[in-house]
Amino acid sequence: MNIMVTGGAGYIGSHTCVELMKAGHSAVIFDDFSRSHPNVVDRIRRLTGVVPIVIAGDIRDRKLLEETLSTHRCDAVIHLAGLKSVPESIENPYLYQDINVGGTRALLQAIETARVHRVVFASTAAVYGTPASLPVREDHALQPSNPYGGSKLAVETLLETIASDRFRVAILRFFNPVGAHESGLIGEDPRGNPGNLMPQISQVAIGRRPWLDIFGDDYPTSDGTTVRDYLHVMDLVAAQIRAMEALERERLIKVNLGTGHGYSVLQLVDAFSRTCGRNIPCRFAPRRAGDIAESYASGDLAQKMLGWRAERSLDDMCRDVWRWQSLNPQGFESAPSSRQPG
Ligand code: UD1
Repeated sequence: MNIMVTGGAGYIGSHTCVELMKAGHSAVIFDDFSRSHPNVVDRIRRLTGVVPIVIAGDIRDRKLLEETLSTHRCDAVIHLAGLKSVPESIENPYLYQDINVGGTRALLQAIETARVHRVVFASTAAVYGTPASLPVREDHALQPSNPYGGSKLAVETLLETIASDRFRVAILRFFNPVGAHESGLIGEDPRGNPGNLMPQISQVAIGRRPWLDIFGDDYPTSDGTTVRDYLHVMDLVAAQIRAMEALERERLIKVNLGTGHGYSVLQLVDAFSRTCGRNIPCRFAPRRAGDIAESYASGDLAQKMLGWRAERSLDDMCRDVWRWQSLNPQGFESAPSSRQPG
């Protein structure tokens, strides 16, 4: 299939494109490079042997989206483009409505005109807000606790309204994607300071930051720090591809993507420290606005609908992040190492 990946140069997008291309699909990257690095394109080439098609454009540009979909005869769209920082969304909720919701509206209009019949959408655990019970199942109440989660929920609602036999939709609620491609050639290189935990830890380990701020030590969890369901990005990508294929038989898929296990901030720091053999200096700081104490997914529905379960362990996640970070201390600004393939 020809698949347009919006946000295809980003963290999840780049791993998605590599796996799509390896599975024999052709990937068209649509990305504005506002939060991604242009060097990722060459890394994808090194990994796949193919120069991917790249369209630099804004997700709100309906005309360009339409043109891209028809010129490249796209059969499906994996929609990953969007903003994802909880603190930024609290500071500027309009921006999140504009890009995450407005951008998806433009994309869906373009999809309709270009007669594309499948879309896979990257939603988030943040649509649930504070879970009433754990693990979080898909039928739990949807009460986002920040504007980022609210913007993703608005998109979910829109997609559900228009899903039909002719236009098939998969909504995937990502828990906490971490990890990197096993090659160490691509990984997470945050721009615009989204502040996610794993890249902060790896940047402390490599010496780019002096310490890690741990936001809150008095949550009602086993060690007082927040608990999340960390999922290896390569497991996530496998689930996305399964979902795209499952739309052959399903009209609407709506599933959580997580491992079913929660780890605290301190447990993650410990695991990473063991993997890299370095001390990770930490400092307790006040709670971060919009954060919740504990969240991990039930994986039952994803198993049932997609035949998918996460396979990689927390140690695998730490090992792959450390390989990526140590081979690329400055992220995609780093010269590709001779230890890397390609
Ligand atoms: C949130 C969303 C998630 C979304 C992600 C995108 C919820 C429940 N989840 O993830 O769906 O994909 O944003 O950004 O809203 N932390 C520190 N120090 C740091 C950084 C983080 O202590 O320097 C803590 C945070 O307070 C949090 C945990 O680590 O409790 C994980 O943080 P992060 O990686 O940002 O993910 P979430 O906030 O869980």
